[in-house]
Amino acid sequence: MQMFDADKLYPRETELDDGRVMRVYQSEVGDVGCVVWDAAIVLAKFYEHLSGVSHEGSTFDDPAAAAAVQCLCQLRQWVSACNEGKLSVLELGAGTGYVGLVAAAMGARVTVTDLSEFIDLMRHNIDSNVEVIQQKQGVCHVLELVWGVSLPTLTLPTLTSNCPKPSLILLADCIYYEESLEPLVKTMVSASSQDTLIICCHEHRTTDNKPHLQKQFFEEVSKHFRVTRIPTILQHPVYSSDDIHIHIFRLHDQPPS
Ligand SMILES: C[S@@+](CC[C@H](N)C(=O)[O-])C[C@H]1O[C@@H](n2cnc3c(N)ncnc32)[C@H](O)[C@@H]1O
Repeated sequence: MQMFDADKLYPRETELDDGRVMRVYQSEVGDVGCVVWDAAIVLAKFYEHLSGVSHEGSTFDDPAAAAAVQCLCQLRQWVSACNEGKLSVLELGAGTGYVGLVAAAMGARVTVTDLSEFIDLMRHNIDSNVEVIQQKQGVCHVLELVWGVSLPTLTLPTLTSNCPKPSLILLADCIYYEESLEPLVKTMVSASSQDTLIICCHEHRTTDNKPHLQKQFFEEVSKHFRVTRIPTILQHPVYSSDDIHIHIFRLHDQPPS
């Protein structure tokens, strides 16, 4: 179904931590992806925060917090390399493309993906933020990607033969209906190398079957990935919330072949 209608768009302006302004268009009509969700804001601000703040040297008695700090140090290196254009970023279920656009505005080479009906909206948002993206030599491409599809090596426009899988995968508010959970995890697995880090941000919802879905998703993810929760205290100091969770996933070590 085609959902892009230029007359039904309205802009949302957000400010990056360095003062630059991004203008992302949302649509009055369309499915859930046509607006920027809170989890997307929290994830984008976490990405920005990682670019600026070092957690090296932070010590925590709580083993879970210590593991999170260790994971963050690695993530920070990945984000800096992405921002220098050395590694590439893939966003799944991007909707308006907001999170990927922020990463591109920080200098990353990004591919934002979603169902076909969101391609024009994402493209419109890239075009609307070209100057901000180019200020840091970032790049943002659009690709239709339906979860469940395996991602063959080098499918994404931002990948190179040196780096045939994305180094970072971003996922905001993508846990919300049962049929999608296994296909989504399948795509995450196929798009990951042993070095890929996935940042998943979701709003904890307590209505209907949402708690069950979230549990199911994490059970499925844990079969393939090590999961580290990032406590709120290690997230952006302003744009974080106790009911919006950030986790980092990394493929389990493979036995040497
Ligand atoms: C709640 S929205 C979140 C959008 C955006 N990440 C944000 O947080 O603002 C979920 C997104 O997942 C996308 N999505 C749902 N099922 C999908 C599928 N099977 N394949 C690809 N994308 C899908 C939707 O189109 C939608 O854009």
